[in-house]
Formats: sequence, C-alpha cells, structure tokens
Amino acid sequence: MVFWFVCYLVVVWLISASDESCPELPFVENGIIVIKEVEGQILGTCLCIKGYHLVGEKTLFCNASVEWNAPVPTCRLGHCPDPVLVNGEPSSLGPVNVNDKITFKCNEDYILKGSNWSQCLDNHTWMPPLPVCKSRYCGPPGNPAHGYFEGRDFNSGSTITYHCEDKYHLVGTRDQQCVDGEWSSALPICELIQEAPKPIPQTAFEKALFAFQENKELCKAIENFVQRLKENNLTMEELKYSLENKKAELEAKMLS
Ligand SMILES: *[C@@H]1O[C@H](CO)[C@@H](O)[C@H](O)[C@H]1NC(C)=O
Ligand SMILES: *[C@@H]1O[C@H](CO)[C@@H](O)[C@H](O)[C@H]1NC(C)=O
Ligand SMILES: *[C@@H]1O[C@H](CO)[C@@H](O)[C@H](O)[C@H]1NC(C)=O
Ligand SMILES: *[C@@H]1O[C@H](CO)[C@@H](O)[C@H](O)[C@H]1NC(C)=O
Repeated sequence: MVFWFVCYLVVVWLISASDESCPELPFVENGIIVIKEVEGQILGTCLCIKGYHLVGEKTLFCNASVEWNAPVPTCRLGHCPDPVLVNGEPSSLGPVNVNDKITFKCNEDYILKGSNWSQCLDNHTWMPPLPVCKSRYCGPPGNPAHGYFEGRDFNSGSTITYHCEDKYHLVGTRDQQCVDGEWSSALPICELIQEAPKPIPQTAFEKALFAFQENKELCKAIENFVQRLKENNLTMEELKYSLENKKAELEAKMLS
C-alpha cells in the first residue's frame, strides 16, 4: 500500500562516463522511469504504480544525447485503461482495480466480435482483449467484372442475386445472404464463354456449295458458285482440297 502515498520518480542512471547526456526527465506522478543503456542507446521505460495506467509512449529513447524521442508519458487513475466500446456499453466506465471483471453489450443492430467479458490483469492489460461492435448491416456488395447484382436490401438476413452479361457465365455463388454484417460467400466471377474456332476454308467452300444448291438454273448456279469462290479468294487448288475433304467426310458417314 506504500504505492498510494509515494509519488516519486525513480531514475536509475546507467550512463557511462561520457560527456554526452540526455536532458533529465521530469517526475512522473504515480510512476517510475527506469533508464537503461542498450547498445549505445539510452532507453527510458515508464512503469505506473498499482491502480494507475500509462497514457503515452511506454519507452523513450535518447540516442545522440540530444532529445528524448517522445513526450513524457503520464500515469492516470485506473489500473487498466478505461474500457472503450464504440457502439456498445461496458458494464463499468469508471477507473478499475486489479482483477476487476467487466462485461460488454453492443447497441441494437450491432454484433459483438470478441469476448463478452474481460479482466484487468497485474500488468495493466485487459484479458481477453476488448471486443468491438460491428454493424449488422452489410453495405452494398461489389460487382464482378462483366456482372451485376439484383437486390436492394443490404440488412442482415436479406439476399441478393448475381448475374453475368451476355457471353459470360457465372463461376461461384449466385445467391448471397447478409449474415451479421458479412456477405455469405466470396464475390463470384463472370467468365467468358469459349466458342469453338471455325475451320475457315471449309466454311468458305460450304457457302459456295450452298449457293449452287439454292439455284435451280444450272448456269446461274455455276455463275454464282464461281462468284462466291472469287469473293472468298479460293484458288482452284483450295477448291480441290475442299472437295476431297468433303468426299472423305461423306464416305466416312456412309461407312458408319
Ligand atoms: C538519433 O537521433 C537523431 C537526432 O535526433 C535522429 O535523427 C536519428 O534518427 C536517431 N537515430 C536512431 C537510431 O534513432
Ligand atoms: C457471454 O457469452 C456467453 C456465451 O458465449 C453467455 O453464456 C453469457 O451469457 C454472455 N454474458 C453476457 C453478459 O452477455
Ligand atoms: C500480461 O499478462 C498476461 C498474462 O500473464 C500475458 O498473457 C500478456 O501477454 C501480458 N501483456 C503484456 C503487454 O505484457
Ligand atoms: C480477298 O482478297 C482481297 C485482296 O487480296 C481482300 O481485299 C479481301 O478482303 C479478301 N477476301 C476474303 C473473304 O478473304
């Protein structure tokens, strides 16, 4: 209980016989600063007495005897930092003592992530760590490239449906539900539907052949046929090759 009326700064200087020295640290009420030299650097570590917690940087350093790198911290009433729960309420708001236990509750439409209780430990920390309150509202989901979603309600429990543009098909989950602030599955993707490439000389030949078949008058048909061949830049060599292909195809059909 000596702690309650001793308010001295205890400074332990371990500085070697050097000309250089850091500016002296002021008193820290309800705490001590321990000075150490680590690898040529002067480190100051602030420790608060029982019933008080640290606000500011715990460790200061002074490397080239010029300045401390941060303002001197303070020790405030309450063995652990005051519990903060945005969009929620801890069971106690005031200063706490060692071993005090508190519980947490989130406001309506918020969900607790983490432990619903915590205890103030000897080393001035809360264990388990303080939880957070997360909104149950999901917010608008993203759109995949070449896709979109249908649905306007992004509150917990509501559902949206993904669609892809023409020529794209959906890979992943089509229907998604907002569950306590998070969409139930990862964003789907829209994948281009692969079309089989067309054999070029064969179609050109078939076009010409079709023109031949659709004309009753033979002369007109031949004229048309030659015209189509020209349009498609088919040489006689290519025509011969195409005819042979067609013949082989027909023979194969007849045999099967
Ligand atoms: C030492 O102090 C100088 C001057 O304040 C600073 O520029 C430098 O970054 C410090 N070195 C280290 C290792 O912190
Ligand atoms: C904390 O959570 C547990 C289960 O996870 C539950 O049984 C208990 O009632 C909760 N306490 C409070 C204060 O909400
Ligand atoms: C405080 O003590 C607990 C339990 O002994 C330990 O798990 C935790 O890491 C300590 N925290 C710090 C910052 O030293
Ligand atoms: C045929 O060849 C001409 C000239 O070389 C070219 O302009 C035309 O686009 C070609 N037509 C086809 C169907 O390949």
